[in-house]
Amino acid sequence: MQTDFLVIGSGIAGLTYALKTARFFPDKKVTVITKTQADETNTKYAQGGIAGVWDEDRDSYEKHIEDTLIAGDGLCNKDIVEIVVKEGPERIKEIISYGAEFDKDEKGAYSLGKEGGHSENRILHHKDVTGQEMERALLAELSQVPNIELVNHCFVVDILTQHHLGFLVTKSTTDITCYGVYVLNLHTHKIEKILSKITLLATGGCGQAYRTTTNPKIATGDGIAMVYRAKGRIENMEFIQFHPTALYEPGTSPSFLITEAVRGDGGILRNKNGDAFMEQYDSRKDLAPRDIVARAIDSEMKKTGTEHVYLDCRHMDKEKFIHHFPNIYEKCLSIGIDVMQQMIPVAPAAHYSCGGIKTDEWGRTSILHLYACGECASTGLHGANRLASNSLLEAMVFGHRCFLDSSKAVENIRWNDAIPDWKTTGTTDPREMILITQSLKELQQIMSDYVGIVRTDVRLERAMKRLDLLFAETEELYRTTKVSPQLSELRNLITVGYLIVKGAQFRKESRGLHYNTDHQAKSSLLQNIIL
Ligand code: FAD
Ligand code: SIN
Repeated sequence: MQTDFLVIGSGIAGLTYALKTARFFPDKKVTVITKTQADETNTKYAQGGIAGVWDEDRDSYEKHIEDTLIAGDGLCNKDIVEIVVKEGPERIKEIISYGAEFDKDEKGAYSLGKEGGHSENRILHHKDVTGQEMERALLAELSQVPNIELVNHCFVVDILTQHHLGFLVTKSTTDITCYGVYVLNLHTHKIEKILSKITLLATGGCGQAYRTTTNPKIATGDGIAMVYRAKGRIENMEFIQFHPTALYEPGTSPSFLITEAVRGDGGILRNKNGDAFMEQYDSRKDLAPRDIVARAIDSEMKKTGTEHVYLDCRHMDKEKFIHHFPNIYEKCLSIGIDVMQQMIPVAPAAHYSCGGIKTDEWGRTSILHLYACGECASTGLHGANRLASNSLLEAMVFGHRCFLDSSKAVENIRWNDAIPDWKTTGTTDPREMILITQSLKELQQIMSDYVGIVRTDVRLERAMKRLDLLFAETEELYRTTKVSPQLSELRNLITVGYLIVKGAQFRKESRGLHYNTDHQAKSSLLQNIIL
């Protein structure tokens, strides 16, 4: 198959790009691929909302820029922060024009929420299901554009480069070029070749590398691992953001999120003894940036020997709570917690990858004709810690920027017909799926136990040794077994785990989301770690 623009991922990043590109080139083909059904994305689960300067009387670009830089703890690229903050409101207006609805107050003005690290109310939201509403609006808009082909249940295994033509490609090859992808068609169970002129990776995050995560099953870091295998550049993977308040519900995966907006509306964190503890850690208390709140909770849990703390909403107005957070209210009730009577048990969970595929200000990766945007990309916006609700914004701004740049580039690109078909010779059906499922559990255990919120040199070393073994076993399976999504995802997650640990080992300091008790001071050297 051949297509002009190949988009891998149907979350906010991929769909924003696809819509703009297809409308700009009505006679060209845009293909969007997704590994399960179209709306099964991290995007769909976003709760709190999307940050943007909306109320210009109170808020300003300068304030949003400053808040983003403070959260990023010295590592944000200021130019990129300015781009995202200043271009963001236009992109929000666009999705509103597609039909996305955000809550309004009684006067008809947008009701703006507040979350950790924000100095003003600037979060547009749709109840506590903002992502679901945005995904709905994007997919509805997509269905009206005839030259977009949306292909569900197709798993991209690898991107195609000169390597597939038999050339030696190394990290120092300067003209690595993407020609398309190999994809496992889950309807036919065959691996197909898709040649494309431009390829966009919008494959989302990698929360599934951890045992406890807010991310759905699809978040396995596939795009990041594919680029690393293709010798492209990956940046700052050690900065994994743990959301402070996932519902503590042992045995349930993914963890249900209790949005930070609940704390924005007055929710208070309390420990096992009922004490509000955040004041001891930060003057911004429950609304300090996420890294600080997550570490504070971790410390309280260790001090009191519990697996969770509590979020107290009992003092909040019932009507307002149910109006803003109907989904959370219902979810808690379904497990026997009336949030107006009882405190909600919460614990931190892996939530967001601040690093990823390194891109420039147009979403260009280090591989020619390959773009990346959304959570899989590292644009420089988040630095060492993402400010809440900045990721939906970044995905739309960079979806647009990737469109602007690739629409100029496409005219000079031809399909590369010399790429061979996939070879399956020598591989057999997997005999023991347990080998894959057990290795996945091991990986998640290693990452959660040794590479979590608080790290040490010894824990990182131990994690790396365990990952080496898992890597060797899984590569052997991959060489001898027919490719399946489960095996590919395991392989990708091991690569992502390796990149997180390697980045963490290189960083001899504590900064933002990376906290190592053996290197507690911040280095004077501002460094992005590129692998
Ligand atoms: P996703 O939406 O995750 O989409 C990824 C797509 O890639 C999927 O379609 C998937 O099928 C496809 N894909 C992946 N690998 C392959 C493959 N190998 N082959 C084919 N297809 C593939 N951010 C905010 O700004 N505000 C919030 O309020 C907020 N709340 C959140 C709440 C939760 C519970 C979670 C999990 C995240 C939240 N975030 C929030 C973060 C935000 O939702 C994500 O960062 C963002 O939606 C990512 O969008 P994306 O388009 O990059 O990827
Ligand atoms: C939340 O609603 O707390 C999540 C917001 C985010 O991850 O940006």
